[in-house]
This record gives sequence, C-alpha cells and structure tokens, in this order.
Amino acid sequence: MDLQHLTDTLPTTPALVLDADTLRENLAVLQDLRQRSGCKVLYSIKALPLSSVLEIARPYVDGFAVSSLFEAKLAAECLPAQASLHLSTPGIRPDEWPELAALLTHVSFNSATQYLRLAPNTPASCALGLRVNPHLSFLDDARFNPCRAHSKLGISLDELWQSSYLEQVQGLHVHTVFAATDFKPLIATVAKLRSYFGKDLAKLKWLNLGGGYLFKQIADHRPFIDLVLQLRHDFGLEVFIEPGKAVVGDAGHLLATVLDCFVSDGKTVAILDTSVNHNPEVFEYQRQPSVYGHDPKAAYPTILAGCTCLAGDVFGEYRFHQPLAIGTKIVFTQVGAYSLIKAHRFNGYNFPDIYVHQDARLQRVKHYAYADYHQQWSAQA
Ligand SMILES: Cc1ncc(COP(=O)(O)O)c(C=O)c1O
Repeated sequence: MDLQHLTDTLPTTPALVLDADTLRENLAVLQDLRQRSGCKVLYSIKALPLSSVLEIARPYVDGFAVSSLFEAKLAAECLPAQASLHLSTPGIRPDEWPELAALLTHVSFNSATQYLRLAPNTPASCALGLRVNPHLSFLDDARFNPCRAHSKLGISLDELWQSSYLEQVQGLHVHTVFAATDFKPLIATVAKLRSYFGKDLAKLKWLNLGGGYLFKQIADHRPFIDLVLQLRHDFGLEVFIEPGKAVVGDAGHLLATVLDCFVSDGKTVAILDTSVNHNPEVFEYQRQPSVYGHDPKAAYPTILAGCTCLAGDVFGEYRFHQPLAIGTKIVFTQVGAYSLIKAHRFNGYNFPDIYVHQDARLQRVKHYAYADYHQQWSAQA
C-alpha cells in the first residue's frame, strides 16, 4: 500500500486502514508453517475481531482462539462447521459457561479450581485442557509477563505434576511471550514441559503453544518447524499456535489530521483528530508508535498530541522534513493489533472509521455515528 497515495486520497480521518495484502502476506507465512510442520493455526481474535479480518483469515487458518462469550459468538458466526474454536481465560462466568462451552471445540482451563468447577459441566464436543505456567520469564516488563511472580495465568508445573489432572485432560496450553522475534522462549518452554512430564506427554492429544511470536519478522523458521515435528513424532501430539499480532499488527495504519499547531515552551505541538484512546497501549505501556515520514535527522521536531483533555494524551516527539500545518495528515504504522479493540470515546471523540484497502481500492467498512455514542450512554428506562 502506497502510504503517500493513501494520505492524499483518504476521505475521512481519524481512520484505521487495514491493508488486505499485508494481512494475506502474514497469513501466507503461517500457512507455510502449517504445511511444513503440520501445526494447526488459530487466529487469536482478541488482537482485532473485525469481521473483515476474520473473513480474510478464514481460508488460511484452522480456526480461531477466543477469550470470552462475545468473542466466541462472533468467531462462531464466521467459522465453517469443522473449524477449531479454542478458549483460555482466567475469567469464565459460571452463568455463561453452558452457552460458551457449546460453541467451543477446546478449552484450556486457567486454574485447577476453574477446571474442577467447570469440567463436569462441559459437553463432550469440547476437549478439556489446562493452561500451564512454566514460570519462565522472558519479558522484563511485568505488566505483560504471564510468568511474573504470583501470576494469575495458568497452573504451575509443580502443581500439575503433583496432581492427577494430566491424566484427566486431553491437552495443555502455554503462552509466555509478547512480540517475540526468535524462538528461544518457545524452545525453552517446551524443554521444560518435556523435563517435567517426559513420556507422559504422549497421553495427551494436543498442545497449544499460544501466541506472542512475530513469525514474519523471524528469518529462520527451521527451529519452530523442527520443534513441532518432534512433538508430533515423539508424542503424537496435535500442535496448535494462536497468533494475534503476527496476523494483523503491521496490516493496520491509523490516519489522523492535524487540527491545531502551536509552540509550547519552545517546542512545536500538533493536535491531532485522534488520541491515545484510539491506541491505548501508547499510554498503558508508554510506547511510541512509528510514524510514516518521521526521520530522526529531519529539521522539524514536533510533539504529536491527541485531542482530549488528558495532559498525557501524547504520542511522542517526531521529526519531519516539512513543518506540519493544520490539515496535514499523519500516519501511525503497525497499529492493527490491540489498538481499536481497546479504544474508547473519552471526551466524546468518535472512534476512527475503518477502511479496508484491497485491489487498489479503499472501502469504508465501519463508521460510528452520534447514535452509537447516544446508545452507549443513554440509560434504559
Ligand atoms: C493466551 C493467549 N493466546 C494468544 C495471544 C495472542 O498473542 P499475540 O497477539 O501476541 O500473538 C494472547 C495475547 O495476549 C494470549 O494471552
């Protein structure tokens, strides 16, 4: 997708533009892994559950991974009959479980107590599994480290080892990383599982290796392929992966327009018609998203700021070759995952429109109106 052409032609901002070619490129990488290793691929829809993405992904994947009843319902509407639908979450509501379980092909219970309470009420159509926590920390930031101290995510290997649960379930699930660009964590995780359970792994039917790997950014896929082939050969396991960001992350661009521009304490500030609320991880993790046209050596430093009243609603300081002016369009790149799904309308600023770019055409697939905001905040009589 030509970003300059996009900024010149996009009719409305703020807008999330999804590039269908990039989505298909990402999915083709996963399909190649599927063919070479025999693993099964699920799109983890939490990254972006937009129906256009689910429809594009459907022919490339074996199913979807979900976290809740709403996600499961949305996924089930799009999936063909034979597809897999996996769930793992710390927060299954007992009142929702019958409806949710009926939609699933696999569940990985997050704790022993969750398993003991809900397994007896799970239909035979849903294979029982457990999420395990190998207590291998690969991430420095505890906010997104599933293996942090006192983690709420997964049963510890020691607890599982001392129980008889492994005999009672058909599968295990592990998820330990975020945005990993090599397979070392996965290799260490599987080695730890093997060291605990050895040949007993052959009593299981499946192993879900979670998400968290940016497959396209990893040059050598051989270690992954060998790992999966070995698990299939040594234990006869069906191996799943459930990437989210690897599917949709670099396919999404957030376009905004400069609404105002002024100097504050000696620095130029540009106010955009978007905010960090359209990409909340910028604020949550103090992450600075990439911007098209930013060059660290360029002459015009500018603070890109969101339009809300929050002082910290700021994307960061960037440098441009031309001074920004009111009306200039800004493109944040690689923001397809965990952006719009976490977005909200603080201060009453609307959500971005959503466009899909496909076959050199831009199609607007979503627009929110005042009626949506009114519906959200009008109390029911
Ligand atoms: C259990 C589980 N599976 C899969 C994913 C998807 O991870 P990613 O989008 O990093 O590939 C996540 C992300 O949080 C997760 O918690």
